[in-house]
Amino acid sequence: MQISVKQFNPLFGETEKNFLFIIDSIRKIPSQIILFPELALTGYDFHDRSEAEKFALSPDSSMLKEFEYLARVENKILCIGFAEKSGDKIYNSAGLFFPESKYNNIYRKTHLFYKERLIFDETDRGFFVVDYEPWDIKIGTMICYDWRFPESSRTLALMGADIILCPSNLVTDVWHIAMPARALENKVYLAVANRIGKENRNGVNLVFKGKSAIYGYNGEVLEQAKKDTEEVLTTEIEPEKTRNKSFNEINNIFSDRRAKWYFK
Ligand code: ACM
Repeated sequence: MQISVKQFNPLFGETEKNFLFIIDSIRKIPSQIILFPELALTGYDFHDRSEAEKFALSPDSSMLKEFEYLARVENKILCIGFAEKSGDKIYNSAGLFFPESKYNNIYRKTHLFYKERLIFDETDRGFFVVDYEPWDIKIGTMICYDWRFPESSRTLALMGADIILCPSNLVTDVWHIAMPARALENKVYLAVANRIGKENRNGVNLVFKGKSAIYGYNGEVLEQAKKDTEEVLTTEIEPEKTRNKSFNEINNIFSDRRAKWYFK
């Protein structure tokens, strides 16, 4: 099974252009799984909540329906970051679209970064793993700043994830220290789709740092993008290889856990 990560520069407020770009990428990239960055349809740095509300999409909007349709007809799993409207709530979300639509789901970011707290609501459903039985793959999702909390990837791994998808808009490089460790300590694949480009909307010049990456379940870098170019990363994964958590004949990273001694 092949996974691709699409690194690109979502243009702020140009939802239609970003949408057409994403659609075109989905059609061109032959991999079975394609991951796009956080807030890939809108860009990142909203002035305030009411601006985000204008751009946020409800799950039955035509753009999300089109992703659902494409996942079905192109026979692909898609993960795409977008601003989600649900009643009077707005979430920083990632849509997961599968060839069989009944598996579709939406992850809502758990840990909101910096001024995102003024814009978005926190998740109301937390982490989950989709067991996509037709392809025997278990997929968990976290978004960007969720990486800073080892509990995010640990939770997803304990829920059975083979791979963690992480749509991102990262503006630092420190995550390169942590992400491979999250893959290694949980024995899962981890794919990070970061964006590139700049936004200067709230008196702050945000430079998104690219270098999207796909990590193997031993923490090795399988693929890594450059810092400022539009790119597709592609690699082969073997989801079933992540499931035996033993790394020698005695130790197993799950059964060796001593949760009763951990601080809650
Ligand atoms: C981030 O969570 N977008 C840094």
